[in-house]
Amino acid sequence: MTNSPLLEQLNWRYATKKMDASKTVPQDKLDVIIEATRMAPTSSGTQPFELIVVTNPEKLAEIQKAAGDQAQITDGSHLLVFAAWDTYTADRIDAVTDLNVKVRGALPMLNAYYDNLKNNYVPRDAEVNYAHAARQAYIALGVALVAAAEQEVDSTPMEGFNTEAVDAILGLKERGLRSVVLLPLGYRDPTGDWLLPMKKVRKSLETIVSYVD
Ligand SMILES: Cc1cc2nc3c(=O)[nH]c(=O)nc-3n(C[C@H](O)[C@H](O)[C@H](O)COP(=O)(O)O)c2cc1C
Repeated sequence: MTNSPLLEQLNWRYATKKMDASKTVPQDKLDVIIEATRMAPTSSGTQPFELIVVTNPEKLAEIQKAAGDQAQITDGSHLLVFAAWDTYTADRIDAVTDLNVKVRGALPMLNAYYDNLKNNYVPRDAEVNYAHAARQAYIALGVALVAAAEQEVDSTPMEGFNTEAVDAILGLKERGLRSVVLLPLGYRDPTGDWLLPMKKVRKSLETIVSYVD
């Protein structure tokens, strides 16, 4: 296999269990991670999620309680909350169309494409639309995880939380959003993290990859 800085970074990162509460992720590194999130690809380019960056200590303490007291939420310096649209609406899809026109100019296919999308998405059950939007948020989570590793910032992807409680803490429902996944950012505590010395566990290539030649 060819030498890959990316693979080294993916081996360096791990779902950090204990972060050093005295350390803060500098703004320039945070900016890179946030920008990587913005650049994540999404289905039809709708980017149907928002990123909420929480540093308020009271809010973090409340979110921690809603997440089984996971220490990384308050020991990290920033908490990224990936919040997906609760559904697709005509207005939301029109805004995507408008942005495309603004950036690329009016293209013949563009309106037809997004009209078709609206016809498919808007009548669907809100839960189906939310599930689709949440999958897009997960793509952004993956990109953010990799960006954090590239910046030598530790992170912990987290699904272990009460989404309704976090929505209430951050007032997401009123904004038509639902929390999907959390990503505390910070720096590993080299002496206090039981997971740090452990080997990575991954299935073998043969188990997960097959080829159709
Ligand atoms: C979507 C997602 C949700 C996760 N939820 C939690 C969580 O709530 N708490 C936690 O400590 N780790 C959580 N993890 C971490 C995984 O257990 C971990 O990524 C996996 O075991 C692989 O280990 P590694 O990330 O250290 O390489 C989550 C990971 C992902 C991708």
